[in-house]
Amino acid sequence: MNTLGVSERMAGIPPSGIRRVFEQARALEAQGKKIIHLEIGRPDFDTPAHIKEAAMAALREGKVHYTSNWGILPLREAISRSLEKELGVPYDPEGEIIITAGAAEGVLDTIMALVDPGDEVLVPDPGWVNYPAATAMAHGRPVSYSLRAENDFQIDLEELKSLLSPKTKLVVLVTPHNPTGGMLERRILAEIGHLAAEHGFFIMSDEIYHKMIYDGHQHVSIAALPGMKERTVIINGFSKAYAMTGWRVGYVAAPKALAAAINKVHQHNTTCAASFAQYGALAALTGPQDCVANMVREFDRRRLFLWEGINAIPGLSCPRPRGAFYAFVDVRGCGLSAEEFASRLLTEAGVAVVPGDVFGRAGAGFVRISYASSYEEIQGALERIKQFTQSLGGTT
Ligand SMILES: Cc1ncc(COP(=O)(O)O)c(C=O)c1O
Repeated sequence: MNTLGVSERMAGIPPSGIRRVFEQARALEAQGKKIIHLEIGRPDFDTPAHIKEAAMAALREGKVHYTSNWGILPLREAISRSLEKELGVPYDPEGEIIITAGAAEGVLDTIMALVDPGDEVLVPDPGWVNYPAATAMAHGRPVSYSLRAENDFQIDLEELKSLLSPKTKLVVLVTPHNPTGGMLERRILAEIGHLAAEHGFFIMSDEIYHKMIYDGHQHVSIAALPGMKERTVIINGFSKAYAMTGWRVGYVAAPKALAAAINKVHQHNTTCAASFAQYGALAALTGPQDCVANMVREFDRRRLFLWEGINAIPGLSCPRPRGAFYAFVDVRGCGLSAEEFASRLLTEAGVAVVPGDVFGRAGAGFVRISYASSYEEIQGALERIKQFTQSLGGTT
């Protein structure tokens, strides 16, 4: 036991590096510095009014008690209809869909339900830090597969095959991806589907950014490929598409036997997502969708501006993001490590970005820049980044 009394399990899990950057930025702000925040992965928009109104109406109507562990039925039915429409996959609202307190809860519940001690979980590197942390909490072993810029952030199937073992229980797929902005192509997903059937592993497919896609790219869920619904747990939610990060509403869609096990974890964890927040989510899904289209159009404008601006700065380069709201920028040409680049950019130029190593070893040499901040802030940040890189002298 360590001296603090903290479990070995939790002591071994590092705190989120994104939070660390955020705290540093806050400390500088407290000293009176003007910081441009491009480190946080949340839309800067307010939640659309009709969604707020639906939650307030639920409160007024006294919908303030526990709901079913599975979540309110009308929301599960609406999710079932949207999965059928968007992916072409039928999910029974009675037993195949669980409303969770954000997608983050769905990730932990799924891993707890599927992973035994010693089981291996393949996680993307770079990738969202919750997957390896949740795996460690379940006493599983995270095994990283890499996503590289030179490969358009697609999965290298040869590498993936080399990482499979009889202990591989789960492969985590994320499309569109945080932090790379990449999207997995159908041919890659089809191959992974064959491997899953051959080796008997399951898939957790995090599709939280599935409405944020640009340049006409198509979202493909592995659950929609032949025979794959039975092996896949879809993770999704309302945080990103409807600017509802603080509402904490997400969902899991899975075949019945898996959903029953996941719901058991959920039941003993949060009981249910907040009742009135679920009514807000229902309005989000069943109400007008122009709010999503407008947000995505604005993200697209910022994406192109940021992407072009970054590539015009000597020493920096960035593949064109396909989805989500992140650009993954190669800073190796500046002669600094990602950690040094991010730290000096923050203290010397007042721009907060996340060093890629926070998301795994393959993220070394890159920084994640979120374009979920205003166009004007991105404009200001680009100016500062340009001056900062010039101040470094000759780029390599
Ligand atoms: C890939 C991915 N999945 C899930 C989440 C969390 O979503 P939620 O707010 O619904 O928990 C995030 C948040 O950054 C994310 O990047």
